[in-house]
Amino acid sequence: MVSPYTFQPRGRLLDVMRQVGDPDLINLAAGLPSVHCVPKADLQEAFAATLAENADEALGYHVPDGDLRLRELLVDRFRRRGINTSVNQMVITTGCSQALHGMIRLIAKPGDVVACEAPAYYSTLEIMGDLGVKVLPIPVRDGDGIDFELTQTLFRRFRPRLFVLCSTLSNPSGATVPNEIRKELVELCRKTGTRILEDEIYGELSEIPNLKPIRAYDDGSTVSYVTSFSKTVAPGLRVGVCLPGLDANAFALQKCQQDMHSATLCEVAFRRYFETGRFDIHLDFLRRLNRERRELALRVIEECFPTTAKVWRPAGGFLLWVQLPANLKIKQVYRTALTQKVAFCHGAAFFTSEEQQIPAMRLNCSRPSEDDLVTGLRILGKILERD
Ligand SMILES: Cc1ncc(COP(=O)(O)O)c(C=O)c1O
Repeated sequence: MVSPYTFQPRGRLLDVMRQVGDPDLINLAAGLPSVHCVPKADLQEAFAATLAENADEALGYHVPDGDLRLRELLVDRFRRRGINTSVNQMVITTGCSQALHGMIRLIAKPGDVVACEAPAYYSTLEIMGDLGVKVLPIPVRDGDGIDFELTQTLFRRFRPRLFVLCSTLSNPSGATVPNEIRKELVELCRKTGTRILEDEIYGELSEIPNLKPIRAYDDGSTVSYVTSFSKTVAPGLRVGVCLPGLDANAFALQKCQQDMHSATLCEVAFRRYFETGRFDIHLDFLRRLNRERRELALRVIEECFPTTAKVWRPAGGFLLWVQLPANLKIKQVYRTALTQKVAFCHGAAFFTSEEQQIPAMRLNCSRPSEDDLVTGLRILGKILERD
């Protein structure tokens, strides 16, 4: 059985974000949606109307917690998804990143045991590594997400202070914690004194009907919740949301010290966009497009990747996690692919250096054009056949 341990973070986020700027690369690595997924005309209209009609408000300072009307709209939306909250319990953040960063640092202190998925979003690992917490990796399985039986055993034994969990369409695995165990997980964490930090950034891209966030099974005392509109509207808006739960004031204070508040212009324009009611129509479009892209990618992978490659089947989103045979030299494949102008995110980025791991790739099937996606996957297939 694993025991919690401290580790050195790898610093992958910076590399991946810098790669995004290379126009000659077929970029299957970055975790962002295609520019075609951004509702540009609607946002243009919202920004133009904001500057024409709300310029004084949109270009000034506002409260650290974020635009009040936007928070009201989000409280309503969250309520329809089962989350009971109020404007006083919500802080608008600069992306999900600020919320994630702030909450991990508020709840966990150096030396605390913090559980997280394995594999996990590399930025979460970077924050934890930098903070000097002891990580308790919880393996994720294809199909049913975290191994709940093992989670119970490990939590009873090590009583982690915090569990950071990308509950729906986890990055990178695409796994979703099934509805049936969400409530049980909250109960388990209540007993072991573990706070859950639910990162639900991909939640609205899920194609599972009636899936409720884990926060819907709690009043905020056990589950803190973070998300953003980076994967559903536009990452450049940097509109994120935090429901800190017990730490609402401490979180707002910390955020205020960092950046006073998030960009007023983006919040007010986003609120105007939200008020049009077009977000739900846009989500339908995104879910359809993501499904088509995943199906295309799966067909090409089946055709050109070695039969030993095992692709996980996420119930939504635009990321695919491909497991490869244990003896494959994935770093060599990565370097060869880059010389042929194809980038993917290699699996090691999502594990701590101490963990046992099998070679894997995370592939983004939304960002490249259809042609680039097919070309990129075929190039990877050829390299994999050879190595
Ligand atoms: C799981 C997860 N959490 C948080 C983030 C950061 O989101 P944002 O761009 O809104 O800061 C990402 C971005 O890729 C992510 O995949």
